[in-house]
Amino acid sequence: MIISDSINIYLKTTETCNLNCDHCFTSGKNGKKIFFNYEKTFDFIDRLFSFKKPKHARILFHGGEPMLAPIDSMESIYSLIKSKYPETSFGIQTNLVYKLTEEKLNFFNKIFLKEGIGTSWDSDIRFENINQLLLWEKNVKQLISEGHKISLMVSLSKSLIKNYQPVDIVQYASDLGIQHILFERITSNGNAVINPEIQPSNADLDSWLLLMYEQTIKYNLHEKIHNMFLDEVATSFINRLHTANRCRNCEQSLVTINADGTVSGCPNSAPEEYWGNIEWSIPENLTSKKRLHTMSCELKRNDNCLTCPVNSICNGDCHRLPWEGNICAAPKSLMLKMKTENRIEDYQKLLW
Ligand SMILES: C[S@@+](CC[C@H](N)C(=O)[O-])C[C@H]1O[C@@H](n2cnc3c(N)ncnc32)[C@H](O)[C@@H]1O
Ligand code: SF4
Ligand code: SF4
Repeated sequence: MIISDSINIYLKTTETCNLNCDHCFTSGKNGKKIFFNYEKTFDFIDRLFSFKKPKHARILFHGGEPMLAPIDSMESIYSLIKSKYPETSFGIQTNLVYKLTEEKLNFFNKIFLKEGIGTSWDSDIRFENINQLLLWEKNVKQLISEGHKISLMVSLSKSLIKNYQPVDIVQYASDLGIQHILFERITSNGNAVINPEIQPSNADLDSWLLLMYEQTIKYNLHEKIHNMFLDEVATSFINRLHTANRCRNCEQSLVTINADGTVSGCPNSAPEEYWGNIEWSIPENLTSKKRLHTMSCELKRNDNCLTCPVNSICNGDCHRLPWEGNICAAPKSLMLKMKTENRIEDYQKLLW
């Protein structure tokens, strides 16, 4: 299959940002100061959807900081796609560290009230001062009071793992009224390459993720907030259905459109590892040598996975996350515990 039946498009409206997070795969403020061309981008998506006719299609406004782009361009592409492909769902991932003007609020209320908004909170590597954090908290609370459902991305940095217990972060997010939380491991792209000290060791990551599971069960944290990371592992365990980080087919199902019109798969490496262009034909894009090479790299597992006792749950994990010798970046201890204890009724509680 040259592209999967479910297509997720990361539509980057810009490459730059008002913040400069230490881990940012689009290089924060140093990303290119350009905006997407909505007409050419629509034309590409239109040709892609006519070529493939996906069963499920989702478009996520992304960046850089997507809300830096002209809002009328985002509204225009939304209207064009919705009028021709009404089943397409939309989302946005935004830092919410800016004034929520009436124009921005109207945009959020018009498009994302049903679909939800993604935002991010990180320990030490994101907010430059307390005012940025307070502005972010105020905006989150305002959007929730207007009826929005918020998903929170939290990066698993060295400082987060050292300074926070999982229960503290879940409690903080739940107190803000956030509905979903996703803990993300940091890939070595963009600013993360020049700030390698922010990366935890794989062994520390593994211990923290086990603790997250144990505290979730102990304190019934799943009743406060939906933990997308644990849901994904539980789904793999119960249904042997590998989603998100466990799917090992991101490069076949994700399309990232950089703001300059270049096209890639995984959004984390998209600024440097693109394989196509919105001006090319769809077959030229999908069969480009670079794309096929990346797809084949993703399909190949590390040899250690072949003899791993939790291979059927893990599925080899995300191919972008580096190993440290024989130690992978997967939540291996957590999966081993699940397999040994086999407490299906507990794992079912983690599903959304
Ligand atoms: C690049 S940002 C773009 C959207 C928006 N500016 C934001 O920060 O939410 C998208 C998400 O990727 C995360 N992210 C950035 N660099 C990353 C990296 N190297 N590895 C994993 N996640 C990363 C951010 O924390 C954020 O949750
Ligand atoms: S992670 Fe998001 S908010 Fe942070 S610098 Fe990158 S694009 Fe900006
Ligand atoms: S836990 Fe590690 S070794 Fe086991 S399958 Fe997953 S990535 Fe491979």
